[in-house]
Amino acid sequence: MPKIITIAHTKGGVGKSTLAWNIATALKARGLAVEVFDLDFQKTLFFVDRLRITDPLAPLPAMGVVSLAAGTTLAAAVQSSRAEYIIIDVGGFDSELNREAINLADMVICPVRDSITEALGFHAFSAVLATIGSPRVHLVFNGAHPKTADFVSLRDSFGDYPALSWLDSVVRFRAAFARTMSRGRGVVEAEGSWVTKAADDVRALAAEILEVCDGKAKA
Ligand SMILES: Nc1ncnc2c1ncn2[C@@H]1O[C@H](COP(=O)(O)OP(=O)(O)OP(=O)(O)O)[C@@H](O)[C@H]1O
Ligand SMILES: [Mg+2]
Repeated sequence: MPKIITIAHTKGGVGKSTLAWNIATALKARGLAVEVFDLDFQKTLFFVDRLRITDPLAPLPAMGVVSLAAGTTLAAAVQSSRAEYIIIDVGGFDSELNREAINLADMVICPVRDSITEALGFHAFSAVLATIGSPRVHLVFNGAHPKTADFVSLRDSFGDYPALSWLDSVVRFRAAFARTMSRGRGVVEAEGSWVTKAADDVRALAAEILEVCDGKAKA
């Protein structure tokens, strides 16, 4: 059975699709068989995958994004997958399908920005999570200011959700994310000094995710 990693938050614009795509491409770059499920009706990653194969300069093979809409059985799609890892990008809203993606996951990752308003946004998501049995959620700062060094008090402000873990990795705000996604790529698939820092952040995040999935990291 594939390991399922669901990237979820009921808040929009926190970087779910950006991280899902970059985690997927980083795991693929490590030689792992990866499939992406796009549960958002905006079909963000489905269209990003099109950009990848139609890129006029240097097209790449499709990642293979499965676009699933409400009413489809996620469990059946998981069972028929031959991937080692399924990365699920969930839309920024609450739905039965999104809850199923959270329930089925081996690891739920919730990207959050480094601000107090984000902490309040997480309270709304944690209320939804509580109604489905408070599954473990790994929070990760995404789009964090490149110079912020101390995240301790900010992490504390995210409250007392009973099954909250923080990933040590922090993904900083970098223009390289939008620039690479606009050509269907992850940052680890681009070359040049302009992308090095973003790629380092993503590689560290991917390594930490694999440790959690393999049970080697703190829960
Ligand atoms: N680490 C980052 N650095 C710079 N820009 C980022 C970063 N992460 C995300 N962004 C930008 O923030 C915007 C929102 O990101 P994204 O679409 O991934 O969020 P989302 O949570 O999937 O949104 P939605 O809820 O609408 O699906 C995009 O313009 C994206 O390029
Ligand atoms: Mg999205």
